[in-house]
Amino acid sequence: MATVMKTTGMKTPDSTTPGSQTMKITPLSAACGAEITGVDLTQDLTPETVAAIRQAWNDHIVLVFRGQKITQEQQLRFASYFGNLGKRKNALFNPELQKRNHGTQQNDPNVLLVSNIKENGEPIGAFGEGEMWFHIDSGYAQNPYNYTFLYALELPSTGGNTQFSNMYMAYDALSQELKERYAGRKALHIHEYKRSEKVEIGTDLSKAPHYFHPIFSTHAETGRKSLFVDRLMTARLEGFTKEENEVYLEELYEIGERPEFIYEHKWQLDDFVMWDNRCAIHARTWFPPEERRLLRRCAIEGAPIHE
Ligand code: OGA
Ligand code: MN
Repeated sequence: MATVMKTTGMKTPDSTTPGSQTMKITPLSAACGAEITGVDLTQDLTPETVAAIRQAWNDHIVLVFRGQKITQEQQLRFASYFGNLGKRKNALFNPELQKRNHGTQQNDPNVLLVSNIKENGEPIGAFGEGEMWFHIDSGYAQNPYNYTFLYALELPSTGGNTQFSNMYMAYDALSQELKERYAGRKALHIHEYKRSEKVEIGTDLSKAPHYFHPIFSTHAETGRKSLFVDRLMTARLEGFTKEENEVYLEELYEIGERPEFIYEHKWQLDDFVMWDNRCAIHARTWFPPEERRLLRRCAIEGAPIHE
């Protein structure tokens, strides 16, 4: 049986003892993120350990495990403790766009290689090089992923950090006026396979994956409300004019990206990072394009977003 000793604060980490291992949870910032030590992700985990990780996830949104030597198979097995694996959502719509998400070495439909590496002139994975704006993974789909897992296999000498913003904090920071303005409203999320460009509001929707989600989302497990809007894919707030949209959207993006809500992860090789897509947005900083970067991603299928 696991014993859970719960303390708070940066200097006195939570600690749990599943079986003989001692699991420790140490917050990484005042916004979100916690490092977990004392768990070997290559092994079968007890239900107590899985429950302790899930609790830490609900508490901290982003979990970091360092120094894991995990195979693709082990990564998928670990992720499966938290739900059904989510397939790459690239079999939709426009074949031209699909190609851009189709790496030559992505041979398992549940795995996405996040990489700028090319072999014989062809990308081995997705998302290439450069900065990526804040986004929600598959936020343009009816069922956005609940969770995403990324494992670092090759890293550039500098940059390529992943930033996570706590969207519960963003919601809580909204004025009463803004909470009332957006209550019961939806926003259009469009995927144009861009990384750091605004989506075209006039995009022909038949050519791009898209979905209307509530602007505010209530988390199925924590019951907390978050802001479900991001700069990369949220194209329009329903029920407002074009002029209102320009001002209102920028205001919401900026609230979601306040530095005090963000944990920035500086990757080390063998880092395994997992986050909750329902209450966090994430972005990537620039890195030297001529240097290789490779991460292995998988995700857990989600459900419709409810306010
Ligand atoms: C992702 C993603 C950012 C990164 O895998 O979903 O947004 O740091 N990755 O490469
Ligand atoms: Mn992403």
